[in-house]
Amino acid sequence: MSSQKVLFLEHAKGPLVVADAPIPRPGPGQISVKVIGAALNPIDWKIQAFDLIVKKYPAILGSDIAGDVEEIGEGVQGFSKGDKVFCQGFFVNELGGFQQYALNPAELVGKIPSNIDYAQASTIPSAFITAAIGILSDNGLALNPSFDHNVRFSGKPAFVFGGSTSVGQYAIQIFRLLGFSTIITYSSARHIDFLKSLGATLVIDRAEVSVDSLAEVVKKFANAPIESAFNAIGDDGSRAACFDSLAEGGKLADVNIQAKDKDGKKAITIFGSAHAPQNKEFGSLLWKHLPRLVQEGKIIPNRVEKLPNGLAGIDDGLKKVKTSQISGVKLVAFPQETV
Ligand SMILES: NC(=O)c1ccc[n+]([C@@H]2O[C@H](COP(=O)([O-])OP(=O)(O)OC[C@H]3O[C@@H](n4cnc5c(N)ncnc54)[C@H](OP(=O)(O)O)[C@@H]3O)[C@@H](O)[C@H]2O)c1
Repeated sequence: MSSQKVLFLEHAKGPLVVADAPIPRPGPGQISVKVIGAALNPIDWKIQAFDLIVKKYPAILGSDIAGDVEEIGEGVQGFSKGDKVFCQGFFVNELGGFQQYALNPAELVGKIPSNIDYAQASTIPSAFITAAIGILSDNGLALNPSFDHNVRFSGKPAFVFGGSTSVGQYAIQIFRLLGFSTIITYSSARHIDFLKSLGATLVIDRAEVSVDSLAEVVKKFANAPIESAFNAIGDDGSRAACFDSLAEGGKLADVNIQAKDKDGKKAITIFGSAHAPQNKEFGSLLWKHLPRLVQEGKIIPNRVEKLPNGLAGIDDGLKKVKTSQISGVKLVAFPQETV
């Protein structure tokens, strides 16, 4: 078998179509993964709508992959055919998640812990990596770039704008992992219990408190001046609320790569890909720790909404993401179900 089903973005700003394409073979240091679960991300519709990042069309998108090791490239150790694995896709065709077989460098692949399934595993890579680069790495707030379990921020408060987003859910959990005593987030009320179960100590209902008055409320409930904030929404209003919540000299990690400093406060923009050269070293260290953190229940996957119709179901799924029809869940497609 040398041919597979893929989902092509045919041309810039073009349609998504299911097509046949060759199965990519792993090069040295790479693994080939039979993709069972492929989660959707906002970047997928943004690339389609605005012609971002992708250099060559037709393009295969998809940056969250869970599946089985199919083939192992030269020099790869520690993996066997059939291992259940998860990894982050990237925007070159062989590495995209929206196909039945994808490649990934072995150092950026983890084994799926036994306490989660393929769909849950596929919710983790991109959103967790984005939160981890933003909070832990030297390219973010640099709170624990070496994953040292002795690093603790007991007594400190942190703020996450947009806690119910996929990224926000992992940001909350990373602040919990770091031992922050107060973790305040801003979300719709229906997610309060869930976000508290992930580690939020206070969830401010966005229907009750406007973005403009949010910072005052955040500061009122923080037990100390806030030095660390994470913006999982990234628009101007959310950034202003984060800056206003921060103490003098505090730092904001922002998912918007065009975020600008304001009033002398610094926005650290996140490029949430472990494949980017500047993140690769941190990324490979992250993949040494992530499976264990999930197995130990310290990192909980996003809640899953399963998409029907294999790769063909992704188009409708991305329309839902684009039009904000999802709330506190991750959409996951199943490429092997493609007819
Ligand atoms: N820089 C990077 O490398 C990078 C990487 C990954 C993601 N991102 C960006 O990060 C953002 C989040 O991505 P995601 O995948 O985590 O998003 P997501 O899960 O698709 O976000 C959906 C959630 O956003 C919440 N939301 C929408 N507007 C809100 C607001 N004004 N205040 C509070 N919550 C709001 C909704 O909450 P309700 O339930 O309350 O409606 C919904 O639960 C996106 O813009 C994405 O493009 C950037």
